[in-house]
Amino acid sequence: RRGAAARFGEPLSQEVVCYLGLELGAISIKRFADGEIYCQVGESIRGCDVFLIQPTAPPVNDALVELLITIDACRRASARSITAVLPYFGYARADRKTAGRESIAAKLTANIITEAGADRVLTMDLHSGQCVGYFDIPVDHVYGDSVILDYLASKRISTGDLVVVSPDVGGVARARAFAKKLNDAPLAIVDKRRSAHNVSQVMNVIGDVRGKVAVLVDDMIDTAGTITNAARVLHAEGAREVYACATHAVFSPPAVERLSSGVFTEVIVTNTIPVPPAHNFPELTVLSVA
Ligand code: R5P
Repeated sequence: RRGAAARFGEPLSQEVVCYLGLELGAISIKRFADGEIYCQVGESIRGCDVFLIQPTAPPVNDALVELLITIDACRRASARSITAVLPYFGYARADRKTAGRESIAAKLTANIITEAGADRVLTMDLHSGQCVGYFDIPVDHVYGDSVILDYLASKRISTGDLVVVSPDVGGVARARAFAKKLNDAPLAIVDKRRSAHNVSQVMNVIGDVRGKVAVLVDDMIDTAGTITNAARVLHAEGAREVYACATHAVFSPPAVERLSSGVFTEVIVTNTIPVPPAHNFPELTVLSVA
């Protein structure tokens, strides 16, 4: 069995096949002058179980269409089954209507991935668990916290010094599960309010962070407004150090400037989305979920 990798998923796919002792399947993906995407599977996959590893990551629309066209190419090449491995599922935040006349783009995205020909989905740290139900095919939803927790354990921060912090009320369940795995560390919550898309304003901290090492936990860092504002308020409330942990490094501008502004001891993310060298900064640690 060989795995096929589309372009956006290539770095992680390389690591996965190395881990499994396999080789990547051959695939050719090109862009036409007008931006249209061309895909050809470079070897026979007739009767094979194909695993396409592709985060639908920035630029999200390109990555998504590339995935759809690759699934279609595999289906037309008579693959026996196609598993779309989506380390990061873009549009997951558009999971419900919060105002009239809005789209639920997460549901639409699930529909078109299924319609293209995926038989199964394997994905990581969905923004909200209900997205699993948006697919009418089996979904395996796995979590990146084990690699982050192992890494944190290697830092030997004493449990008495730790407080796990959710940067918003919506992330409390995730942070609570994380705290439980850190010997039931105490939990604090930042009460975030948004005045507009991609703009976060912090109001209050619920819980005691004074003198503690605060570990902020989120599913993703996009513009880094949420996590940086949370870190600032934690420092103002007397936290000794602040770590940021997130599975998905979306890193839209000005994320790198914000994350490297000196408020974090360390920013710990995973490689569900490839982090380009230009997005590197001294406090950044990228762990592999391969
Ligand atoms: C929001 O509910 C998410 O869990 C993240 O906190 C948010 O999407 C991060 O966005 P940004 O980094 O742009 O504040």
